[in-house]
Amino acid sequence: MSGPNTDYDPVEVTPLRADEVEAQRDAALAAIAAAADLEALKQVRLEHAGDRSPLALANREIGALPPQARKEAGARVGKARGEVNKALGQRLAVLEAEHEERMLVEETVDVTLPTDRALTGARHPITMMSERIADVFVAMGWEVAEGPQVEAEWLNFDALNMGADHPARTMQDTFWLEPAEAALVLRTHTSPVQARTMLTREPPIYVVCPGRVYRTDEIDATHSPVFHQVEGLVIDEGITMAHLKGSLDHFATAMFGEGITTRFRPSYFPFTEPSAEVDLVCFVCRGVNSDECRTCRGEGWIEWGGCGVVNPRVLIACGVDPEKYTGFAFGMGIDRTLMFRHGVEDLRDVFEGDIRFAQPFGIEI
Ligand code: DAH
Repeated sequence: MSGPNTDYDPVEVTPLRADEVEAQRDAALAAIAAAADLEALKQVRLEHAGDRSPLALANREIGALPPQARKEAGARVGKARGEVNKALGQRLAVLEAEHEERMLVEETVDVTLPTDRALTGARHPITMMSERIADVFVAMGWEVAEGPQVEAEWLNFDALNMGADHPARTMQDTFWLEPAEAALVLRTHTSPVQARTMLTREPPIYVVCPGRVYRTDEIDATHSPVFHQVEGLVIDEGITMAHLKGSLDHFATAMFGEGITTRFRPSYFPFTEPSAEVDLVCFVCRGVNSDECRTCRGEGWIEWGGCGVVNPRVLIACGVDPEKYTGFAFGMGIDRTLMFRHGVEDLRDVFEGDIRFAQPFGIEI
Protein backbone atom coordinates (compact mmCIF):
# COMPACT_ATOMS: atom_id res chain seq x y z
CA MET A 1 0.00 0.00 0.00
CA SER A 2 1.40 3.36 -0.85
CA GLY A 3 1.37 6.18 1.73
CA PRO A 4 -0.01 9.71 1.25
CA ASN A 5 1.57 11.64 -1.55
CA THR A 6 3.59 13.99 0.63
CA ASP A 7 5.66 15.12 -2.34
CA TYR A 8 2.66 16.70 -4.08
CA ASP A 9 3.37 20.37 -4.72
CA PRO A 10 0.17 22.45 -5.28
CA VAL A 11 2.16 25.03 -7.12
CA GLU A 12 2.57 22.42 -9.81
CA VAL A 13 -1.23 22.16 -10.31
CA THR A 14 -1.62 24.81 -13.00
CA PRO A 15 -5.13 26.12 -12.23
CA LEU A 16 -4.18 26.66 -8.61
CA ARG A 17 -1.01 28.58 -9.21
CA ALA A 18 -1.19 32.03 -7.65
CA ASP A 19 -0.47 33.83 -10.90
CA GLU A 20 -3.05 31.73 -12.72
CA VAL A 21 -5.74 32.39 -10.10
CA GLU A 22 -4.97 36.09 -10.23
CA ALA A 23 -5.10 36.10 -14.00
CA GLN A 24 -8.51 34.41 -13.96
CA ARG A 25 -9.73 36.82 -11.33
CA ASP A 26 -8.46 39.82 -13.33
CA ALA A 27 -10.05 38.49 -16.49
CA ALA A 28 -13.33 38.09 -14.63
CA LEU A 29 -13.18 41.59 -13.13
CA ALA A 30 -12.39 43.12 -16.52
CA ALA A 31 -15.27 41.28 -18.16
CA ILE A 32 -17.63 42.39 -15.38
CA ALA A 33 -16.59 46.01 -15.75
CA ALA A 34 -17.07 45.78 -19.51
CA ALA A 35 -20.59 44.26 -19.31
CA ALA A 36 -22.77 46.97 -20.81
CA ASP A 37 -26.16 45.62 -19.87
CA LEU A 38 -27.91 42.99 -17.80
CA GLU A 39 -27.86 40.47 -20.64
CA ALA A 40 -24.09 40.83 -21.07
CA LEU A 41 -23.58 40.55 -17.32
CA LYS A 42 -25.53 37.30 -17.26
CA GLN A 43 -23.13 35.89 -19.84
CA VAL A 44 -20.10 37.11 -17.87
CA ARG A 45 -21.46 35.49 -14.71
CA LEU A 46 -21.82 32.20 -16.55
CA GLU A 47 -18.30 32.37 -17.96
CA HIS A 48 -16.47 33.60 -14.87
CA ALA A 49 -18.52 32.46 -11.91
CA GLY A 50 -20.57 29.57 -13.28
CA ASP A 51 -19.99 25.88 -12.53
CA ARG A 52 -17.68 25.50 -15.49
CA SER A 53 -15.74 28.74 -15.05
CA PRO A 54 -11.93 28.47 -14.57
CA LEU A 55 -12.15 29.51 -10.92
CA ALA A 56 -14.90 26.97 -10.18
CA LEU A 57 -12.87 24.28 -11.84
CA ALA A 58 -9.79 25.36 -9.88
CA ASN A 59 -11.86 25.10 -6.72
CA ARG A 60 -12.65 21.53 -7.54
CA GLU A 61 -8.96 20.70 -7.80
CA ILE A 62 -8.49 21.63 -4.14
CA GLY A 63 -10.18 18.47 -2.96
CA ALA A 64 -7.50 16.43 -4.69
CA LEU A 65 -4.68 18.15 -2.80
CA PRO A 66 -3.00 16.69 0.25
CA PRO A 67 -4.51 18.17 3.46
CA GLN A 68 -1.56 20.42 4.25
CA ALA A 69 -1.79 22.08 0.83
CA ARG A 70 -5.54 22.65 0.82
CA LYS A 71 -5.67 25.56 3.18
CA GLU A 72 -3.47 27.92 1.20
CA ALA A 73 -4.94 26.98 -2.16
CA GLY A 74 -8.46 27.20 -0.73
CA ALA A 75 -7.80 30.66 0.65
CA ARG A 76 -6.37 31.85 -2.63
CA VAL A 77 -9.19 30.56 -4.80
CA GLY A 78 -11.87 31.51 -2.26
CA LYS A 79 -10.57 35.07 -2.10
CA ALA A 80 -10.52 35.36 -5.88
CA ARG A 81 -14.07 33.97 -6.19
CA GLY A 82 -15.24 36.27 -3.42
CA GLU A 83 -13.85 39.27 -5.26
CA VAL A 84 -15.49 38.18 -8.49
CA ASN A 85 -18.86 37.64 -6.82
CA LYS A 86 -18.68 40.98 -5.08
CA ALA A 87 -17.86 42.73 -8.34
CA LEU A 88 -20.75 40.89 -10.00
CA GLY A 89 -23.14 42.08 -7.29
CA GLN A 90 -22.02 45.68 -7.58
CA ARG A 91 -22.19 45.71 -11.36
CA LEU A 92 -25.64 44.13 -11.21
CA ALA A 93 -26.91 46.87 -8.92
CA VAL A 94 -25.54 49.57 -11.24
CA LEU A 95 -26.98 47.99 -14.39
CA GLU A 96 -30.37 47.39 -12.75
CA ALA A 97 -30.59 51.01 -11.66
CA GLU A 98 -29.69 52.14 -15.19
CA HIS A 99 -32.27 49.80 -16.65
CA GLU A 100 -34.97 51.12 -14.36
CA GLU A 101 -34.15 54.70 -15.18
CA ARG A 102 -34.22 53.98 -18.90
CA MET A 103 -37.60 52.26 -18.57
CA LEU A 104 -39.01 55.26 -16.72
CA VAL A 105 -37.92 57.55 -19.53
CA GLU A 106 -38.89 55.24 -22.38
CA GLU A 107 -42.28 54.34 -20.98
CA THR A 108 -43.29 57.83 -19.94
CA VAL A 109 -46.76 58.71 -21.23
CA ASP A 110 -47.19 62.32 -22.28
CA VAL A 111 -50.77 62.97 -21.38
CA THR A 112 -50.65 66.35 -23.10
CA LEU A 113 -50.04 64.88 -26.58
CA PRO A 114 -52.94 65.35 -28.98
CA THR A 115 -54.98 62.24 -29.65
CA ASP A 116 -56.54 61.10 -32.89
CA ARG A 117 -59.25 59.17 -31.05
CA ALA A 118 -62.71 60.04 -32.33
CA LEU A 119 -64.55 62.42 -30.02
CA THR A 120 -67.74 61.15 -28.51
CA GLY A 121 -70.71 63.36 -29.23
CA ALA A 122 -72.97 65.07 -26.77
CA ARG A 123 -76.66 65.82 -26.78
CA HIS A 124 -77.26 69.41 -27.74
CA PRO A 125 -77.71 71.77 -24.76
CA ILE A 126 -80.96 73.06 -26.29
CA THR A 127 -82.35 69.53 -26.41
CA MET A 128 -81.39 69.00 -22.79
CA MET A 129 -82.80 72.37 -21.73
CA SER A 130 -86.08 71.65 -23.54
CA GLU A 131 -86.37 68.35 -21.70
CA ARG A 132 -85.46 69.94 -18.39
CA ILE A 133 -88.20 72.52 -18.88
CA ALA A 134 -90.74 69.88 -19.95
CA ASP A 135 -89.84 67.86 -16.84
CA VAL A 136 -90.77 70.77 -14.56
CA PHE A 137 -94.28 70.79 -15.99
CA VAL A 138 -94.68 67.04 -16.41
CA ALA A 139 -93.93 66.80 -12.68
CA MET A 140 -97.03 68.99 -12.12
CA GLY A 141 -99.16 66.69 -14.27
CA TRP A 142 -98.96 68.67 -17.53
CA GLU A 143 -98.44 67.04 -20.92
CA VAL A 144 -96.00 67.83 -23.72
CA ALA A 145 -97.59 68.87 -27.03
CA GLU A 146 -95.91 69.40 -30.38
CA GLY A 147 -96.71 70.98 -33.71
CA PRO A 148 -95.04 71.30 -37.14
CA GLN A 149 -92.43 73.90 -37.98
CA VAL A 150 -94.04 74.53 -41.34
CA GLU A 151 -97.36 75.92 -40.13
CA ALA A 152 -100.62 77.12 -41.62
CA GLU A 153 -100.84 80.90 -41.69
CA TRP A 154 -104.27 80.60 -40.09
CA LEU A 155 -102.93 78.73 -37.03
CA ASN A 156 -99.81 80.87 -36.70
CA PHE A 157 -101.81 84.14 -36.90
CA ASP A 158 -105.58 84.18 -37.48
CA ALA A 159 -106.59 81.64 -34.84
CA LEU A 160 -104.56 83.68 -32.37
CA ASN A 161 -106.54 86.86 -33.07
CA MET A 162 -104.07 88.20 -35.62
CA GLY A 163 -106.12 88.63 -38.79
CA ALA A 164 -104.50 89.57 -42.11
CA ASP A 165 -104.60 93.27 -41.37
CA HIS A 166 -103.71 93.03 -37.71
CA PRO A 167 -100.78 95.36 -36.98
CA ALA A 168 -99.31 92.79 -34.57
CA ARG A 169 -98.38 90.63 -37.55
CA THR A 170 -95.52 93.03 -38.22
CA MET A 171 -94.14 92.30 -34.75
CA GLN A 172 -93.05 88.94 -36.10
CA ASP A 173 -90.91 89.09 -39.23
CA THR A 174 -92.13 86.06 -41.06
CA PHE A 175 -90.62 83.56 -43.51
CA TRP A 176 -93.43 82.92 -46.02
CA LEU A 177 -93.32 79.73 -48.05
CA GLU A 178 -94.06 79.49 -51.74
CA PRO A 179 -96.50 79.27 -53.38
CA ALA A 180 -98.26 82.09 -51.56
CA GLU A 181 -101.67 80.42 -52.12
CA ALA A 182 -100.57 77.58 -49.85
CA ALA A 183 -100.69 80.11 -46.99
CA LEU A 184 -97.81 78.41 -45.17
CA VAL A 185 -95.17 79.99 -42.95
CA LEU A 186 -92.23 78.81 -40.91
CA ARG A 187 -93.91 79.24 -37.55
CA THR A 188 -92.85 82.48 -35.91
CA HIS A 189 -93.68 81.26 -32.39
CA THR A 190 -94.86 78.13 -30.60
CA SER A 191 -98.28 79.71 -29.98
CA PRO A 192 -99.96 77.87 -32.92
CA VAL A 193 -99.51 74.71 -30.85
CA GLN A 194 -102.02 76.28 -28.43
CA ALA A 195 -104.57 76.50 -31.24
CA ARG A 196 -103.83 72.95 -32.42
CA THR A 197 -104.23 71.61 -28.90
CA MET A 198 -107.57 73.36 -28.27
CA LEU A 199 -108.85 72.18 -31.66
CA THR A 200 -107.98 68.54 -30.98
CA ARG A 201 -108.53 68.08 -27.22
CA GLU A 202 -111.28 68.74 -24.73
CA PRO A 203 -110.51 70.82 -21.63
CA PRO A 204 -109.10 70.52 -19.07
CA ILE A 205 -105.89 71.21 -20.98
CA TYR A 206 -102.47 71.52 -19.32
CA VAL A 207 -99.69 71.45 -21.94
CA VAL A 208 -96.16 72.71 -22.55
CA CYS A 209 -94.87 72.92 -26.11
CA PRO A 210 -91.11 73.31 -26.59
CA GLY A 211 -89.98 73.78 -30.17
CA ARG A 212 -88.07 75.53 -32.92
CA VAL A 213 -89.33 78.80 -34.39
CA TYR A 214 -88.17 81.12 -37.20
CA ARG A 215 -88.01 84.85 -37.88
CA THR A 216 -86.21 86.89 -40.50
CA ASP A 217 -83.71 88.26 -37.98
CA GLU A 218 -80.08 89.00 -38.75
CA ILE A 219 -77.61 86.83 -36.85
CA ASP A 220 -75.82 88.52 -33.96
CA ALA A 221 -74.94 87.76 -30.34
CA THR A 222 -78.59 87.88 -29.27
CA HIS A 223 -80.54 87.18 -32.49
CA SER A 224 -80.85 84.25 -34.83
CA PRO A 225 -83.31 83.45 -37.63
CA VAL A 226 -83.90 80.11 -35.90
CA PHE A 227 -84.41 79.86 -32.17
CA HIS A 228 -86.49 78.01 -29.60
CA GLN A 229 -89.51 78.77 -27.49
CA VAL A 230 -91.57 76.98 -24.93
CA GLU A 231 -95.28 77.64 -24.88
CA GLY A 232 -97.54 76.88 -21.96
CA LEU A 233 -101.32 76.60 -22.13
CA VAL A 234 -103.90 75.86 -19.45
CA ILE A 235 -107.65 75.74 -20.15
CA ASP A 236 -109.92 74.75 -17.28
CA GLU A 237 -112.83 76.03 -15.24
CA GLY A 238 -112.04 78.94 -12.95
CA ILE A 239 -108.49 79.58 -14.17
CA THR A 240 -107.20 83.07 -13.28
CA MET A 241 -104.09 85.20 -13.61
CA ALA A 242 -103.13 84.02 -10.10
CA HIS A 243 -102.68 80.46 -11.40
CA LEU A 244 -100.48 81.87 -14.16
CA LYS A 245 -98.32 83.76 -11.68
CA GLY A 246 -97.95 80.73 -9.41
CA SER A 247 -97.00 78.47 -12.31
CA LEU A 248 -94.39 80.89 -13.65
CA ASP A 249 -92.89 81.49 -10.20
CA HIS A 250 -92.51 77.76 -9.82
CA PHE A 251 -91.00 77.49 -13.31
CA ALA A 252 -88.52 80.30 -12.57
CA THR A 253 -87.44 78.78 -9.27
CA ALA A 254 -87.06 75.33 -10.81
CA MET A 255 -84.81 76.82 -13.50
CA PHE A 256 -82.79 79.35 -11.55
CA GLY A 257 -83.00 78.37 -7.91
CA GLU A 258 -84.65 79.39 -4.68
CA GLY A 259 -85.57 83.07 -4.47
CA ILE A 260 -85.76 83.62 -8.24
CA THR A 261 -89.40 84.51 -8.86
CA THR A 262 -91.18 86.63 -11.47
CA ARG A 263 -92.93 89.96 -11.86
CA PHE A 264 -95.49 90.93 -14.49
CA ARG A 265 -95.41 94.16 -16.50
CA PRO A 266 -98.52 95.16 -18.45
CA SER A 267 -98.12 94.52 -22.15
CA TYR A 268 -100.03 93.60 -25.29
CA PHE A 269 -100.39 90.32 -27.19
CA PRO A 270 -103.39 89.73 -29.46
CA PHE A 271 -103.99 86.24 -28.07
CA THR A 272 -104.15 87.21 -24.38
CA GLU A 273 -106.15 89.76 -22.43
CA PRO A 274 -104.82 90.98 -20.09
CA SER A 275 -101.24 90.41 -21.26
CA ALA A 276 -97.94 90.81 -19.44
CA GLU A 277 -94.23 90.70 -19.97
CA VAL A 278 -92.57 88.33 -17.49
CA ASP A 279 -89.38 89.41 -15.73
CA LEU A 280 -87.14 87.28 -13.52
CA VAL A 281 -85.45 88.46 -10.36
CA CYS A 282 -81.90 89.06 -11.62
CA PHE A 283 -80.20 85.75 -10.93
CA VAL A 284 -76.82 87.48 -10.62
CA CYS A 285 -77.44 90.35 -8.16
CA ARG A 286 -80.85 89.13 -6.91
CA GLY A 287 -81.95 92.74 -6.86
CA VAL A 288 -79.36 93.70 -4.22
CA ASN A 289 -77.05 96.56 -5.23
CA SER A 290 -78.31 96.12 -8.76
CA ASP A 291 -76.78 99.48 -9.75
CA GLU A 292 -73.47 97.70 -10.13
CA CYS A 293 -74.89 94.60 -11.81
CA ARG A 294 -73.85 94.21 -15.44
CA THR A 295 -76.39 91.49 -16.12
CA CYS A 296 -79.57 93.45 -15.32
CA ARG A 297 -77.93 96.90 -15.77
CA GLY A 298 -79.33 98.24 -12.56
CA GLU A 299 -82.86 96.93 -13.09
CA GLY A 300 -82.78 94.05 -10.62
CA TRP A 301 -85.00 92.24 -13.13
CA ILE A 302 -84.41 90.43 -16.43
CA GLU A 303 -86.92 90.05 -19.25
CA TRP A 304 -87.88 86.42 -19.78
CA GLY A 305 -91.04 86.14 -21.93
CA GLY A 306 -94.70 86.96 -22.42
CA CYS A 307 -97.93 85.70 -20.90
CA GLY A 308 -101.56 86.42 -20.22
CA VAL A 309 -105.11 85.22 -19.83
CA VAL A 310 -106.25 83.55 -23.06
CA ASN A 311 -108.32 85.99 -25.12
CA PRO A 312 -111.96 84.74 -25.44
CA ARG A 313 -111.71 85.40 -29.20
CA VAL A 314 -108.98 82.73 -29.34
CA LEU A 315 -111.12 80.32 -27.31
CA ILE A 316 -114.00 80.82 -29.73
CA ALA A 317 -111.78 80.43 -32.82
CA CYS A 318 -110.50 77.15 -31.40
CA GLY A 319 -113.88 75.75 -30.38
CA VAL A 320 -113.67 76.29 -26.60
CA ASP A 321 -116.72 77.69 -24.76
CA PRO A 322 -115.57 80.98 -23.15
CA GLU A 323 -118.61 80.96 -20.84
CA LYS A 324 -117.45 77.73 -19.25
CA TYR A 325 -113.68 77.86 -19.53
CA THR A 326 -110.90 80.33 -18.99
CA GLY A 327 -107.20 79.81 -19.39
CA PHE A 328 -103.71 81.22 -19.35
CA ALA A 329 -100.77 81.01 -21.71
CA PHE A 330 -97.12 81.94 -21.73
CA GLY A 331 -94.15 81.85 -24.09
CA MET A 332 -90.46 81.93 -23.16
CA GLY A 333 -87.24 81.70 -25.17
CA ILE A 334 -85.45 78.42 -24.49
CA ASP A 335 -82.17 79.78 -25.88
CA ARG A 336 -82.49 82.79 -23.61
CA THR A 337 -83.17 80.52 -20.65
CA LEU A 338 -80.10 78.44 -21.51
CA MET A 339 -77.96 81.56 -21.86
CA PHE A 340 -79.13 82.92 -18.50
CA ARG A 341 -78.81 79.63 -16.70
CA HIS A 342 -75.34 78.73 -18.02
CA GLY A 343 -73.76 82.13 -18.65
CA VAL A 344 -73.63 81.71 -22.44
CA GLU A 345 -72.79 85.15 -23.79
CA ASP A 346 -73.16 84.66 -27.53
CA LEU A 347 -76.25 83.06 -29.06
CA ARG A 348 -74.16 82.02 -32.08
CA ASP A 349 -72.38 79.44 -29.90
CA VAL A 350 -75.73 77.70 -29.47
CA PHE A 351 -76.22 77.26 -33.21
CA GLU A 352 -72.75 76.85 -34.70
CA GLY A 353 -72.54 73.16 -33.80
CA ASP A 354 -69.04 73.21 -32.30
CA ILE A 355 -68.83 70.10 -30.16
CA ARG A 356 -66.58 71.91 -27.66
CA PHE A 357 -69.57 74.06 -26.73
CA ALA A 358 -71.95 71.15 -26.32
CA GLN A 359 -69.66 68.73 -24.50
CA PRO A 360 -69.53 70.25 -21.01
CA PHE A 361 -73.33 70.16 -20.86
CA GLY A 362 -73.25 66.39 -21.42
CA ILE A 363 -71.64 65.79 -18.04
CA GLU A 364 -74.23 67.79 -16.15
CA ILE A 365 -76.25 65.77 -13.67
N1 DAH B 1 -95.84 84.16 -28.90
C1 DAH B 1 -95.22 85.27 -28.26
C2 DAH B 1 -93.96 85.67 -28.98
O1 DAH B 1 -93.40 84.87 -29.67
C3 DAH B 1 -94.87 84.94 -26.83
C4 DAH B 1 -96.09 84.76 -26.01
C5 DAH B 1 -96.62 85.86 -25.34
C6 DAH B 1 -96.74 83.56 -25.92
C7 DAH B 1 -97.76 85.74 -24.58
C8 DAH B 1 -97.88 83.41 -25.15
C9 DAH B 1 -98.38 84.53 -24.47
O2 DAH B 1 -98.54 82.26 -25.02
O3 DAH B 1 -99.50 84.39 -23.75
O4 DAH B 1 -93.52 86.78 -28.85
